[in-house]
Amino acid sequence: MKIRYGVIGVGGHGRNRHLIPLTKLNDKVEIIAIADVNKERCEEVSSQFKIKCYLDYMEMIEKESLDAVSIVTPTGLHSKIAIDILNRGINVLVDKPLGANLDEVKEVVNTARKKGLKLMVGYWSRFSPALQYGEEIVDKGLLGEPYVAYGYLVRRRGIPGIPTFIDKTLSGGKGALLDIGCYLIDNLLTLLKFKKPKSVVGKVYTKFGNKKEEVKFNWGSWNPENFSLDDYAVGLVKLEGDVSLIIEVGWAANVSHMEEKSYIRILGDRGGIEATGHEAITDISFHSRTENFLTDTKPALRKVDIYFEMVKAFVDSILQDREPPVTGQESVILHSIIDGIYRSSIEDKDVKISL
Ligand SMILES: NC(=O)c1ccc[n+]([C@@H]2O[C@H](COP(=O)([O-])OP(=O)(O)OC[C@H]3O[C@@H](n4cnc5c(N)ncnc54)[C@H](O)[C@@H]3O)[C@@H](O)[C@H]2O)c1
Repeated sequence: MKIRYGVIGVGGHGRNRHLIPLTKLNDKVEIIAIADVNKERCEEVSSQFKIKCYLDYMEMIEKESLDAVSIVTPTGLHSKIAIDILNRGINVLVDKPLGANLDEVKEVVNTARKKGLKLMVGYWSRFSPALQYGEEIVDKGLLGEPYVAYGYLVRRRGIPGIPTFIDKTLSGGKGALLDIGCYLIDNLLTLLKFKKPKSVVGKVYTKFGNKKEEVKFNWGSWNPENFSLDDYAVGLVKLEGDVSLIIEVGWAANVSHMEEKSYIRILGDRGGIEATGHEAITDISFHSRTENFLTDTKPALRKVDIYFEMVKAFVDSILQDREPPVTGQESVILHSIIDGIYRSSIEDKDVKISL
């Protein structure tokens, strides 16, 4: 049996990172249709992939009896569309982040659970062999007790100045912390086995997006007078097990590196991990000791088509009736931290988190 598949939202990411990888799964998947409110784009992609185009995703759902759908619309629409789809009995792969806030995320997770359907979140970064090496180190207990984790994901000038990311409704009303901070925190929590947060203190800043003279250095174009999203954020999170998690995330900052750069470090009392890359980490090393020597270990990593691995994992979870590897419940933990940082910033105090 082939999975009857639809994709909602066929902009850059929907086309390149969902549709194209899905075409390589043609022994398991039949791509039936796409839905996008942009008529020109919908028709162009529909003729490229020779599949039906709908301007209204609900019409696609009513007419096509699909088994699974990818949702790759702007973030502010993710949870509503996911709930609509799940309520029609269809499995969903929702691109990151699962929702604009914790309440939305919980509602999606509860709907999937009630309906007994597969829900996966599109953190393609999870399929990076570098991260998977780190997970193996953690699973084998080679870190000992982890106690401090640090993550940095910053662009010098990379405010994504298109409505998907900066229009308040489409973006979910949040900036860098939600848009790219979710990758950083997901990578870190994966290595920390999704330990639950207890409290958060943080601050978000708007330092570049609201300045006219800055627009030309970034991506796209926008009216800086209407820009009020965060373009930098910091947070300190206390996790269960006496673990401290520190993060810094920025769409823009006065740093030396031109490219988006990520750095992750997990310190344990037996070993430590350092990793670099972008939204996904691509390079990782493990630091420990033998009886007489301090040691540094770097794996020889294979190259993988990370987006293919993501859609394949989702499709296999349906075909084999098992839990997808990137769960909605993990996003509940992740979004409790993101919401906590926004709340701490507004209230100017540390906030307790109870899950
Ligand atoms: N994982 C990644 O690396 C990554 C990278 C970029 C974007 N994304 C995520 O993917 C999502 C889309 O980003 P993008 O870069 O492809 O944006 P985009 O603007 O290129 O594409 C979004 C598409 O959704 C369509 N759309 C909007 N409202 C719709 C609706 N109600 N029904 C159907 N279609 C609708 C738009 O017309 C557009 O074609 C965002 O949530 C973003 O966070 C992820």
